[in-house]
Amino acid sequence: MTMPLTDTPAIAPTAFTRDPLWWRSAVIYQVYVRSFADSDGDGTGDLRGVRSRLGYLQELGVDALWFNPWYPSPFADGGYDVADYRGIHPAFGTLADAEELIAEAAARGIRTIIDIVPNHVSSEHRWFREALAAGPGSPERERFWFHPGKGPNGDEMPTNWVSNFQGDTWTRTTNPDGTPGEWYLHLFAPEQPDLNWNHPEVRAEHEDILRFWFDRGVAGVRIDSAGLLIKDPALPEVPAEPRQGEHPTEDRDEVHEVYRAWRRVVDSYEGTRVLVGEVWVPDASRFAAYLRPDEMHTAFNFDFMTRPWSADELRASIDLMLAAHAPVGAPSTWVLSNHDVTRPVTRYGRDDSGFAFAKKRFGTPTDLELGTRRARAAAMLAAALPGSLYVYQGDELGLPEVELPREVLEDPMHFRSGGIDPGRDGCRVPLPWRGAATPFGFSPDGAGHAASAAPWLPQPPEWAELTVQAQEADPGSMLWLYRQALRIRKRERSLGDGPMTWMPSEPGVLAFSRGEDVVCVTNFGAEPVALPDHDRILISSAPLVGGLLAHDSTAWLHRTA
Ligand code: NOJ
Repeated sequence: MTMPLTDTPAIAPTAFTRDPLWWRSAVIYQVYVRSFADSDGDGTGDLRGVRSRLGYLQELGVDALWFNPWYPSPFADGGYDVADYRGIHPAFGTLADAEELIAEAAARGIRTIIDIVPNHVSSEHRWFREALAAGPGSPERERFWFHPGKGPNGDEMPTNWVSNFQGDTWTRTTNPDGTPGEWYLHLFAPEQPDLNWNHPEVRAEHEDILRFWFDRGVAGVRIDSAGLLIKDPALPEVPAEPRQGEHPTEDRDEVHEVYRAWRRVVDSYEGTRVLVGEVWVPDASRFAAYLRPDEMHTAFNFDFMTRPWSADELRASIDLMLAAHAPVGAPSTWVLSNHDVTRPVTRYGRDDSGFAFAKKRFGTPTDLELGTRRARAAAMLAAALPGSLYVYQGDELGLPEVELPREVLEDPMHFRSGGIDPGRDGCRVPLPWRGAATPFGFSPDGAGHAASAAPWLPQPPEWAELTVQAQEADPGSMLWLYRQALRIRKRERSLGDGPMTWMPSEPGVLAFSRGEDVVCVTNFGAEPVALPDHDRILISSAPLVGGLLAHDSTAWLHRTA
């Protein structure tokens, strides 16, 4: 076990003991550290950069921050290839920086959620290097999925499973004497070898990692690829139509025991620390099984995020997901985007406004004005639904997906698609804070600073109009909408966790009430529509037209009970 490098800072007990149900209604802001704010001018965001912007996040009105992996990593997959789970990437800062960030955020009433990546490690992780060095049959290899190849020379892969990043899932090793060796499994890139979760040391290690971070004041963990941990040790091929729980690498029943053990760790801490699962499981009831009372607290609701801009589709998704959550007593989450998917203002401005990894292409025609209008309406719809809300950094600025030149792309999804899929770098471009030219305040650019390196991904010049500074001066901006909506969401007790009731509405319109006094109505149609009864309009995503709700817009109404 690695010893802490610094003393654990004292966290005021009140920061975690107040409101044990905070996670049921929380607004959680996702910080992609590499692209949030760069304090030292190397073109890469860092923890001191985040610390310097805590005031911005507090003003936005968020309750918690979820940080994408901030650990030492070769960045073969943007940090989801972790070399040391108890450290901080040197480009991001130090463990002491993380501890100070957690404590400072807590002092402002903002909790910290970190990303845990249990399915795989980096090929630079000590365990994997030891496994390669120790050779076939060694105990070091048992922590992974090493296997002899098929065929007379062992040069055929053990299975034909397809990677989540497309392509093969097995890579052949070279023995210490230079001869071709065993193969190892990686459901993602070859730099991300999968761990063997049947091995007790793998389980013990991760429970210890949880404690390491909870001891430092972390309020929760987001669990990466949570449904993939357990593999069928018989290594069968994927059946043409796998029955539930029968897929050799996805959503296997035994995975739940892992999260029950994690829940016991979580519950041994004071305050409510939470488990948030990244669970891509298409069947809603199988998805909800991860949220039984002795497992995770919440999981990302991706069904809503992937649906097109359509009243019928989104209503069907809301009904499906609320019904799935009800039997397990967990609140739903509402998520419009994250660091893996096309930004909402771009998505909703396309003919096909749903999201699917397999359908991403360069040069897709996009109406950004329409997309932005719909993204405003969608943000308010999502914020009015029962449960917690996730906001991916930059969505509050209405940043579009950036179509980057191929030569700057880093994402393995792009390369493993043979260059067909633009990958996920386009939603990871560093944020624009102020000024008229790149780096738009992302890196230090004022007097007294040496010139900063260019941001690690280039920012489009037209982002001058989308900086925080520009939007703060414009009451019609996306940033104003988010700030106001989140303020109202916090103030109106009927919003957040709790019941919702559909109200009658014409086709192309969704209307529902929250409690006795708040109504949310979204017009997906082309024509303005009348508002339901109300005594005042709390907020609307677009100006009303002659008292009517305009096309592609959402309003929150107050009515007297
Ligand atoms: C899901 C993460 O969100 C994504 O960014 C990553 O590439 C994969 N899991 C693999 O860790």
